[in-house]
Amino acid sequence: MVRETHLRVDDLIYPLFVTEGSGIRREVPSMPGVYQLSLDRLNEEVEDVLALGIPAVILFGIPDHKDEVGSGAYEEAGIVQRALRQLKKAYPELVLIADNCLCEYTSHGHCGLVRDGEILNDETLELLVRTAVTQAEAGADVIAPSNMMDGFVAAIRDGLDTAGFKHTPIMAYSVKYASAFYGPFREAAHSAPAFGDRRTYQMDPANVREALREARSDVEEGADFLMVKPAMAYLDVVKALREAFPHPLVAYNVSGEYAMIKAAARNGWLDERAVVLELLTGVKRAGADLIITYHAKDVARWLREEDRG
Ligand code: PBG
Repeated sequence: MVRETHLRVDDLIYPLFVTEGSGIRREVPSMPGVYQLSLDRLNEEVEDVLALGIPAVILFGIPDHKDEVGSGAYEEAGIVQRALRQLKKAYPELVLIADNCLCEYTSHGHCGLVRDGEILNDETLELLVRTAVTQAEAGADVIAPSNMMDGFVAAIRDGLDTAGFKHTPIMAYSVKYASAFYGPFREAAHSAPAFGDRRTYQMDPANVREALREARSDVEEGADFLMVKPAMAYLDVVKALREAFPHPLVAYNVSGEYAMIKAAARNGWLDERAVVLELLTGVKRAGADLIITYHAKDVARWLREEDRG
């Protein structure tokens, strides 16, 4: 009766890594329980997700070819576009969120175009818009740009509106820190930068006032959801955004956070279930409405068991 915070299955978004090829269900070594899936193995996973009551997935693509300009991100027959079409048709009730970035598709692994070692912000925007429009055409319900280029929300909003997708919301990764916790994801998505790092476009972990500025500019540009990423080391940032904005707030419990718990649990050093439920409850207590987490399927199972208890 007196509990102030509730973690619910409706709060969860499950990430999926879709890969070219067939018959593939390949576990990511640093993320036990998380798989790269080819299209013919995707539906069985999604049926699991739906049976557990998880309302939404976010899709990341692993293309079979990468180039300087990340064309795989915005081809009509791109891996994510094909996955979206397939899932929208089979499971119209599932909320499909499309991550919008170039880093999985560029040969250099950066989130934007690169010339002479520098990121070309404005030239990149046009490609992100093409990515968003092809994703919406393929059936994405929500576009989630994670690229951190300046002006990305306005450009994508404008592009979606012009293409007739006025009602497709944008979940902006507004506050994305240049974090070491993305390590396992880069293994899962083959997206580590080939040179340099992402610090010219991702944020300094030391800053919170800057986070509010980033979020404010995304709101002015038309963001419908705001996101903080990673989650655990940034709960003060979640709280600051919660207090400053009425928008639905998403926290991304990232790959490195998942890997730490999995590793400790496998060694018998932590009680996985208790620790995950405590952590995610903490993320909600800080003010998040939704949580993107690789733990989603386990959490859904545990919550169901508690309900029965
Ligand atoms: C793409 C992107 C990244 C993550 C989500 N979208 C990686 C990055 O910026 O390197 C990381 C997610 C995770 O670690 O779970 N820009």
